[in-house]
Order: sequence, then structure tokens, then C-alpha cells
Amino acid sequence: MPDPQPDPNAAALARDPDSLAARLRETHPEAAARPGDIRVVHAPGRVNLIGEHTDYNEGFVLPVAIERGIAIALVPTDDGIARLTLAETGETREFAGAAPGPRQNAWIDYVAGMGWALSEAGLPVTGFRGILASDLPQGAGLSSSAALEVVSAWALSGGERPAVDPMRLVHLVKRSENGYIGLNNGIMDQFASIFGEPGRALLLDCRSLEHRAIRLVGDDLALVACHSGSPRRLETSAYNERRAQCDAAVSAIAALEPGVTALRDVTPAMLDAVRDRLDPVAARRAQHVVDEDRRVLDAIAAFEAGDLAEVGRLFYASHASLRDLYDVSSPELDALVDIARATPGVIGARLTGAGFGGCTINLVRRETVPALRAAVLRDYPARTGLTPRVFEVEASAGARRLA
Ligand code: GLA
Repeated sequence: MPDPQPDPNAAALARDPDSLAARLRETHPEAAARPGDIRVVHAPGRVNLIGEHTDYNEGFVLPVAIERGIAIALVPTDDGIARLTLAETGETREFAGAAPGPRQNAWIDYVAGMGWALSEAGLPVTGFRGILASDLPQGAGLSSSAALEVVSAWALSGGERPAVDPMRLVHLVKRSENGYIGLNNGIMDQFASIFGEPGRALLLDCRSLEHRAIRLVGDDLALVACHSGSPRRLETSAYNERRAQCDAAVSAIAALEPGVTALRDVTPAMLDAVRDRLDPVAARRAQHVVDEDRRVLDAIAAFEAGDLAEVGRLFYASHASLRDLYDVSSPELDALVDIARATPGVIGARLTGAGFGGCTINLVRRETVPALRAAVLRDYPARTGLTPRVFEVEASAGARRLA
């Protein structure tokens, strides 16, 4: 059978709860029979301003939930079956909500993983018939996985806020991703998708779990994502490898500096003192994390002091460190950062998210957005042969019911 033709209008449904509910009624007879029980839930993606690969090292991150995300229109059912259709392709998959069994190696795994994690935690899991629409590009480093998991937690809770403390939900999403999907990631993405606030970035201490919403971007500034159009390569294995290298660095440092349990505890002076006894790759990874934690705190101070030149310097330093010490950039992401840096009015640019492809985030004077767009659309294809996408993002609310 040929693949179904993708529906080019499906992304718009993610922002249009009435039309998504109508599509649900056309797709699932259970919804047509009970239109009054339809709910529409939404979870956003995120960009990270600074603090990359620090979350699983118990450090600091500064993400922003964005208005793009994933919506599901659903009716709860009492048969325990979660059956979900993609608005874009019409593909339907299902699983036994509380006992999903092995992975299907498909997008539904992110939904099923949430059923698994919620039921493992003893929380109720409800069946549903649903339809999903997304305006979040996949594989772009904008956390489409976390958005899918978080919105699924709502769908599997009858289309309501899951009956659990929000920070506990953050950890259940992590459990799903680590234990069911197999990516050993941290808590930043799901935290942003759950705790997002309009107009605010979120400073999170991934050790104490203390967090604070910060008003960063005045009306004269904009956040622009530039999508490299290159698929992320080897992401799961390379990501898990980075994490293992950090753990190896911690073990080696802890043998010399008792009291160190995470890279969060390591100071630059400590690292200097033990460097020649560390594996050189582990030492570079550790250097990135130690410096990046400092950069997050320096960026907060610079934002609060209105020192945008310093914020920009920290963005570029973060990118260079991810490129040279953490080895998670790509020629395409480096090209996007170079083009941005050469555009007057761009304050700072860096890769956002795990890396290995995906997007850069650019902090830009608002009147410069068209110039940045023009520069990227002109220079990037010539440098890489790829087609970029440039879009402004707005700091937005976390997961919620739309209807
Ligand atoms: C991915 C992971 C996060 C975080 C970032 C890198 O987005 O899901 O937990 O580690 O990479 O900062």
C-alpha cells in the first residue's frame, strides 16, 4: 500500500481545538457518539537559552516553553485501550493503556511509555480515542518527544491534569523516556513543557529542583529558531555515550576529591588539579559541563543587569564549547551560528537541545529579525546545500487543556 499522503494543513490543527475535535468526530465513532465528552489537551515544545548537557549532571538550565507543540483531541473510554490517530497521515496505532507491552518502534512508543510509567507509579490510566496534531518540527531539538509524552500523560488521565504533583510528573516523563524508550536524558525538556510560563524563561537547578521564572526578553528583543534541516545523527547512542563519559569523569574525580557525586560539585580549580589523571575525552566533557553551569548563572546576572553584550558572549562561548569540548555540534549548526554572528543586531546564537543537528536559538533585536532571516535563507543553502527554516518563537504556557 502506498503511504498515505501527508495532510499539509494538519499542523494548523494543533492551534485550533474546534477543528481538531471535528476531525476526531470524523475519525473515531466513539467520539461522534459522545461529542460532549471531547477534550483537547496541549503540551509545548521548548528552546533552551543556555545550560546544555548540564541537566543530567545536576546543574542549571534555562529553557523556555514555546507556543508550538502537540495537541490531542480525545474522548476517554472505559475499555482501557489507548487508540490514537495522526492528523497528518491518518495512521492509527493503539496499545493497552496501563500495560502497553514491548515497543512498536513507532511514534506511539512515546505515548505507550507514559502509560507504562504512570501505571508503574500506581496512577490511574484511562483508555481513549484520540487524534494528534503537531506544529513542532520533529528531530529539530525542540523537544517534540517531551511534548508528546507530556500531552500523552494528560490524554491517559482522561484529558485532565494528571493527579500528581507537577515535579513528580516531570520525573515520571523521565522514567518513561529512560526506562521505555531507552534515552538516558535529564529533566529539562519535560520540566519546560509542564512548567512553561508566557513571556518567561525558567531557571531550574536540576539538583535541588528549585526553579524560578525569569522575564528575559523585552518587547524590543525576539527569539528566533533556525532549523538546519539536517536530521539529528546517532542521537540516542551518542547522547547516552556523552552521559556515560560524564559519569566516568565523576568516578575518576571522586577517587581524588571525596564528596564529588556529580559534575555539579566540580570547580574549575578541582578540574585543573586532576586533569592529567583523567581520560582526555572525559576531561573535555567535564570541562564543558563545569564551564556551562557557570555560564548559566552568569547569563542570569547579565540578563538581570541588562548587559546584553555579555549575554551574547556567553551564548557564543556555549556554542563553541559544545562544538569543541562536547562534540555535539555539526557543520550545519556551526554555519548557522556564523551567519547569525555576522548579522548586525543579533545578540547571541548557539545550538539548542541535544545537538547532532536540529536548531540554533538566536537572541535578536526585534527590528533585525528580517535581516537575520534574509541572511540565513541566502547564505546557508550556499554553504551546506540544505534548506533552512527560520521562525520566531514566543515564550508560552506549559501543558494545559484547550477545550
Ligand atoms: C536533550 C535531553 C535533555 C538535555 C538536552 C541537552 O534535549 O532530553 O534532557 O540533556 O538534550 O541539554
